[in-house]
Amino acid sequence: MKAPRRYFDPLAIGAPRPLLELPLRLERMIHFVPPHNEKVRAKAPELVGQVDVVLGNLEDAIPAESKQAAREGLIAMAKATDFGSTGLWARVNALNSPWFIDDMTRLVGEIGDKLDVVMAPKIEGEWDIHFIDQYLALLEARYGLKRPILVHAILETAQGVNNVDAIAAASPRMHGMSLGPADLAASRAMKTTRVGGGHPDYRVLADAVAPHAERVSFQQDPWHYTIARMVDACAANGVKPFYGPFGDFSDQAACEAQFRNAFLLGCVGAWTLHPSQIVIAKRVFSPDPAEVAFARKILAAMPDGSGAVMIDGKMQDDATWKQARVIVDLARQVAAKDADYAALYRF
Ligand code: GLV
Ligand code: MG
Repeated sequence: MKAPRRYFDPLAIGAPRPLLELPLRLERMIHFVPPHNEKVRAKAPELVGQVDVVLGNLEDAIPAESKQAAREGLIAMAKATDFGSTGLWARVNALNSPWFIDDMTRLVGEIGDKLDVVMAPKIEGEWDIHFIDQYLALLEARYGLKRPILVHAILETAQGVNNVDAIAAASPRMHGMSLGPADLAASRAMKTTRVGGGHPDYRVLADAVAPHAERVSFQQDPWHYTIARMVDACAANGVKPFYGPFGDFSDQAACEAQFRNAFLLGCVGAWTLHPSQIVIAKRVFSPDPAEVAFARKILAAMPDGSGAVMIDGKMQDDATWKQARVIVDLARQVAAKDADYAALYRF
């Protein structure tokens, strides 16, 4: 393990110093754009303001023959667009692919000063993050960047899940990670063909109460374990956990339910692959106004955060005060960006 004192040393001569703390940014949705598609790319200025993060996707879903066009399209889109406080991310191709080197070199060289985060797919362990970390430092030094580009890992292999703690702790460059349910399902040999969400056959059957009585059964969430593990790894290391993609654009209720479970368990955002999912992510990852109002009551009743009080018949103490803080702090962040929510929260 690296000596703690050396942890924040730049990894290349002339590279910017790693950040001690992550920038405080609202990232309720990471909106995927296929940058080889000129029509979609042209809509980037409209997206800014509607979403918290615009991501140019270079990896899966971009055909091999369009990889270069996607990379150049992303560069053109980034140069032509003023992103303001909206994040600009890129999902690069996998480390073992023929495109990774040029993705990194071109992006950092051309738009490194605008790029906030590189999303790295199929991360298997801390060694993958160390490689990207070093490679980015060299590129940052070569192109004279003043601020480090962060790294976001996709958790989408069985080995990656086994190493999730080490991945989260691998570098001060780590921004966070997303569940990648499609690749992860394949890696684990799960018997599904879906991108995220539940499965009608993954359920628990209630006990038989009488020999021929009908037995109810309930669908379970196949992603619960992974999300919970990812949230613990991220929270323990001060980085941010996200739900990834939900592929059935026709089932908005199921998308919302998955996003909400992830939010309740600690995730801060999700990917949006279709415009209809933007509004879902915004609704889910902005705390519920009634919950914010109740959390504010707790804070008001316990100004110094200690002791015990009863509110609406419910016991509150130092721990619930901290829970309330999480919700109110997030609500303030949302309100600062979004006047509609500021009104709903009555800030
Ligand atoms: C995302 O990349 C996934 O594989 O689900
Ligand atoms: Mg994937």
